[in-house]
Amino acid sequence: MIYKSLVSINDYSKKEYIEILDLAAEFENNPIRETLKGKVIATLFFEPSTRTRLSFESAISKLGGKIVGFTDSSSSSVTKGETLYDTIKTVSNYSDLIVMRHPLEGSARYASEITNIPIINAGDGANQHPTQTMLDMYSIRKTQGTLENLNIFLVGDLKYGRTVHSLLMAMSQFNPTFNFISPDELKIPEGYKYFLDNLGLKYYEHKDFTDIISRADIIYMTRVQKERFSDPIEYERTKNTYVLKNNMLTNTKDSMRILHPLPRVSEIDIDVDQNPKAYYFNQALNGVFVRQAIITSTLGLI
Ligand code: CP
Repeated sequence: MIYKSLVSINDYSKKEYIEILDLAAEFENNPIRETLKGKVIATLFFEPSTRTRLSFESAISKLGGKIVGFTDSSSSSVTKGETLYDTIKTVSNYSDLIVMRHPLEGSARYASEITNIPIINAGDGANQHPTQTMLDMYSIRKTQGTLENLNIFLVGDLKYGRTVHSLLMAMSQFNPTFNFISPDELKIPEGYKYFLDNLGLKYYEHKDFTDIISRADIIYMTRVQKERFSDPIEYERTKNTYVLKNNMLTNTKDSMRILHPLPRVSEIDIDVDQNPKAYYFNQALNGVFVRQAIITSTLGLI
């Protein structure tokens, strides 16, 4: 099993992805345990969150652990000028593991290099969101019965969407075909295309997906990440580019499922919610079991 920080999705091997998913399935069957009794987990959220923080805290509570931390850095000594270095060094004295979300790319890696306790990256800027990816993969495997050879549509903000970046890297181990659907301003960064090119994987870029939607196994919708734009006019221009509506799903595969890391703004109409192909709220639930698996694995308690 895995006894190490999870900073990048590439910190896990393909074998380790499967181990975590299998363990998460065990937690789904039996989520209430005392595995974390006597352990203290710090949740440091320097950026807002609903699902990631609460599902981590739910996961810890169900395992009998205790939680310390903050949900808003303005209530911490960061407002007095304390550095990330000093915050991590200090919190390491009070906890067995730190779950951290921070707006700066690379902050989780930095934190992992200055402390002896494990760090779990709960999102660092536009870079990575590896625990989201693990629950996305869990949701994909659960709904498709496999992770192999799937046609995955990634729709929306592919430039700033950290969940997209982590998911692309992890799923690249399972021979996917990617369809990238975005406006020009929010295309998948070139580095990720080089990454896929080097692996010989197929990908296609589109501005619209209505004509090809019948090919999708997974449609992964994303929010346009307002907080990452330096130009508010560009955000206004792109924010409503894609709105998935129920009547667009008529010719989709029966097995196709719609995922979204959430929060949703306007990119999935609420008329989709009643469609059995809408899976995003189940996906959010899966986050509890997957995070139970990641925490216990990281602490070597399984
Ligand atoms: N999916 C996700 O990261 O949601 P939150 O920002 O609410 O944590």
